[in-house]
Amino acid sequence: MSIPQAVIDDILARIDIVDVIRPRVPLKRAGREWQACCPFHNEKTPSFTVSPKKQFYYCFGCHASGNALRFLMEYERLEFRPALETLAQMAGVALPEEGPGNAREAGLRNAERDALGAAQSWFRQQLPGSPAADYLAQRGVDAAMVERYALGYAPTQGGLARTLNSGAAQRAGLTLERDDGSAYERFRNRLMFPIRDPRGRVVGFGGRTLGDDKAKYLNSPETPLFHKGRLLYGLYEARQARREPPGYVVVEGYMDVIALAQHGIDYAVATLGTAATAQHLEQLLRLHPRLTFCFDGDRAGRRAAAHALEVALPQLRDGHQLHFLFLPDGHDPDTWVREIGAPAFEQALAQATPLSQYLLDSLAEGLDLSVLEDRAALHERARGMLAPLRAPALRAGLVQALEARSALPASGLSSPEADAPPAPRRRARPADEGKPSRIRRAFVLLLSWPELAAETDAVEALAESPQPGAELLSRMLDTLHAEPGLHCGALLGRYADEPLAPRLQALASEDPEIGLDDARHEFAGLIAELARPDPRTRLRQLSARPPSDLSAAEKQELQALLADLSAAKHST
Ligand code: UTP
Ligand code: MN
Repeated sequence: MSIPQAVIDDILARIDIVDVIRPRVPLKRAGREWQACCPFHNEKTPSFTVSPKKQFYYCFGCHASGNALRFLMEYERLEFRPALETLAQMAGVALPEEGPGNAREAGLRNAERDALGAAQSWFRQQLPGSPAADYLAQRGVDAAMVERYALGYAPTQGGLARTLNSGAAQRAGLTLERDDGSAYERFRNRLMFPIRDPRGRVVGFGGRTLGDDKAKYLNSPETPLFHKGRLLYGLYEARQARREPPGYVVVEGYMDVIALAQHGIDYAVATLGTAATAQHLEQLLRLHPRLTFCFDGDRAGRRAAAHALEVALPQLRDGHQLHFLFLPDGHDPDTWVREIGAPAFEQALAQATPLSQYLLDSLAEGLDLSVLEDRAALHERARGMLAPLRAPALRAGLVQALEARSALPASGLSSPEADAPPAPRRRARPADEGKPSRIRRAFVLLLSWPELAAETDAVEALAESPQPGAELLSRMLDTLHAEPGLHCGALLGRYADEPLAPRLQALASEDPEIGLDDARHEFAGLIAELARPDPRTRLRQLSARPPSDLSAAEKQELQALLADLSAAKHST
C-alpha cells in the first residue's frame, strides 16, 4: 500500500520548495530566504518564511510548517498520494504502483516471532518444580498471575537454543554469538517475564536472576521487534483485564505490575528498565486521559519525577489528567500494596499530586517568595518550563497560579514559546541550564546541517539515554546514516507524526548563528556530553554483560561504579 520512503526522499531531493510555493504565494527575497504574508492565516506583515537551504517553510505567526509535500497537502488541500503525484511530475519521477511491502523483511520478522513464541512456551514448560516456581511462591505471586503474565523459567543448563532456528533466535535476542561463532543462550537461571506488544505478541523477555548475577534484571536487546522506548510491560494484559480502567498507572518494575494486578489494580504498566519516553506517554494518553506515575520516595524517585514532568509537558493537552504519586521511602508499589492493601493504594492513587501542583512546587523549589528577586526568578524558570506546553487552559491556570504566588504580572507567559519569533538575539544562558538546552542546540545544528550526522557514531548511546529528545535524536542520526543526502525538509517530513514534531519544526526555523566549521566542533562536543550514560544506566549496561566480555578498562569502570554505589548506600 505505502510508497517506499526512498521514493519520497528522491522526489523531495529533485525539486526545490521555492518552485512549489512561488507560483502559489507571492514570495519576496529576504537574504538567503524568501518571505510572504502567510497563506495559512490572516496577517499584514509577512511572517511566512521559506528556506531553500533547509527546503522547509515556517510561519512565525501560526507555526504552519513543513516541506514541499506538506505545503501542497495544506495549501491545495490534497491527500498524501495526489500531492506526491504533483511533486513527482515536477521531478520527472514515476510513482510505483501500490504493491505489497518488502516480502523478505516480513519473512524474517515472522521467523523471529515464531522463535519468541516458541521460547515463551518452552520457558513456561520449565517452570513447574523449578527454582523460579519456589521464588514466585516465596514472593506470594499466585497461580492466576503466573498464568496471566505467562511467567516462565530459563534453566541454568539452558536447552532452549536446540529447539529454535538459530538465525531467528539470534536476531530475536534469545542467543548471543561467541567469538568462535558458536551460540549461547542469553537467559540462564532466571525467572522469565515475556514482554508483549500491544497486540499480545511476545517481542522480548525480561529475566530476573535467581542467583547472584550482578544484573538483577536482564532484558532482550533492541531488535527489529523489541523497542524499549516504545513498549510498556503489562499494557496488553491490562487492556485484556478491563475495558475501562480508571486510568493507567506507570510503575518501575515488572514485579510491581504483577503485585498490583494480583491486588485487583490491574491497570499498571512498567517501562523496561529505562525512563519513560514521549512515545510511552503518547501511547497511554491515546488510551486514557488519566495517567498516574508512581515513584519511590527517595532521591532517584524525585529525579525520575522531574524527568517524567519534562517528557510529559509537550504531550499534555487540556483534558489530560497526569498525577504523581510518591511512595514512602523504602517502598515500591509491590511492597506497599502488600502492606496497606488495595483500597488504601487506590485511595492514594486517587489523591495523587496533580502535575500542575507538582510543577508549581518544583518551580518554587529553593526560592524564597518573600523576596522580589526570587519571585522574578520563579517567572524566569516558568518561562523555560512552560515553553513546550500546548494546553491553553492548563497554561492559563498555571499562569494565574504563578501570578498569585509571585504577586507579579506574568507577561509573556501566556502563549507557547514559539509565538515569539526566535529573534537573533544572543542568549546569555545560565551555565546550569543543563541537558535539555544541549539537546535543543544539537537539533538546531543538525537540522541546519544534516551532514553533521556523518561525524558521530553515538546512535546507540543516545538511544539508551533517558534524556528527553535523545532517543529521537538517535533515530534521526540513524536515518541520516542510512541516507546521508536528506535535507532538513525531507528529514522533518519523516518525523511529522512524532509527538515532538512541532518542537522540531520550531527548532528547524532557528538560525544557529555560526558557520559549518564551528558547528562541527560544537556538535561533536554536544553529542559527547549527551551520549555519556548516567552512572546507573552505565552500571546496568556493564553488569549485564558476561565478565569475560569486558575489557580491562571496562572492568575498572565497573568496579569504580560499584564502589560509588555502595558508598552512596552506606552514607544514607
Ligand atoms: P528494581 O530493582 O526496582 O526492581 O528495578 P523490582 O521490580 O523492585 O525488582 P524486584 O522486586 O527485586 O524483583 C525496576 C526495574 O528496572 C529494571 C527492570 O525493568 C525492573 O523491573 N532493571 C532493574 C533492569 O533492567 N536491570 C536491573 O539490573 C535492575
Ligand atoms: Mn521490587
